[in-house]
Amino acid sequence: MGKSLVATTLALSLAHKGCKVGLFDLDFTSPSTHLILGAKDAQPTEDKGLIPPKVEGLEYMSLIYYCGNGAAPLRGADTSNALIELLAVTLWGDLDFLVIDSPPGIGDAMLDLVRLVPDIEFLIVTTPSQLAFETVKKQLRLLQELKIPIVGVVENMKMTEAKTVQEQTQCLGIKFLTEIPYDASVESAIGNPDKLLATEVAKKIMKLSQTL
Ligand SMILES: Nc1ncnc2c1ncn2[C@@H]1O[C@H](COP(=O)(O)OP(=O)(O)OP(=O)(O)O)[C@@H](O)[C@H]1O
Ligand SMILES: [Mg+2]
Repeated sequence: MGKSLVATTLALSLAHKGCKVGLFDLDFTSPSTHLILGAKDAQPTEDKGLIPPKVEGLEYMSLIYYCGNGAAPLRGADTSNALIELLAVTLWGDLDFLVIDSPPGIGDAMLDLVRLVPDIEFLIVTTPSQLAFETVKKQLRLLQELKIPIVGVVENMKMTEAKTVQEQTQCLGIKFLTEIPYDASVESAIGNPDKLLATEVAKKIMKLSQTL
């Protein structure tokens, strides 16, 4: 949990420190970064492709421009085709970072991203839950088998001092990037990026962005 929130806040933090950043919401199950950003009226423009609108200093694209607010009516090969089409038609500027909020797990969409996005690197967000982390470990092992670079693991919604996730991450030979506390003020900052950047969550992510 917290994948979209971390992806959006990371993109905002990188832009804040002067990088040229794109944010691409490719979560077929529940695109939500537009809600976190409060991106109400922004729409891509068409000119030999789709030019992402600027939202809060980010070049922004989302599946909601493809599927609207309803559930994505896409299954199997349709998902793959939509992903390929969006990757192909989106005209990004000259970016330092393109942050992708990717679909959860290790399904076809993730494998398509690996195949189609050059120089892709994965930053994995997990919760302290042992059960959630078991699934994350499978994803980490698969990425390792495929020799896909992993930036590291972020442990989100931390409420105890437990070091289990940190230790198990390091055991796999993967960098443990940071832990982010559970912060009840985040909910009221959804849709308000200035307020979001003032939360404890954002402070941790800003610190992380300095190291990327
Ligand atoms: N550190 C945190 N403290 C408090 N609330 C948080 C924190 N991180 C995320 N949240 C809240 O938890 C909810 C889920 O977060 P988010 O949508 O980012 O998760 P997700 O992994 O993208 O979920 P999904 O699988 O639905 O895409 C959101 O309401 C978000 O505001
Ligand atoms: Mg999400």
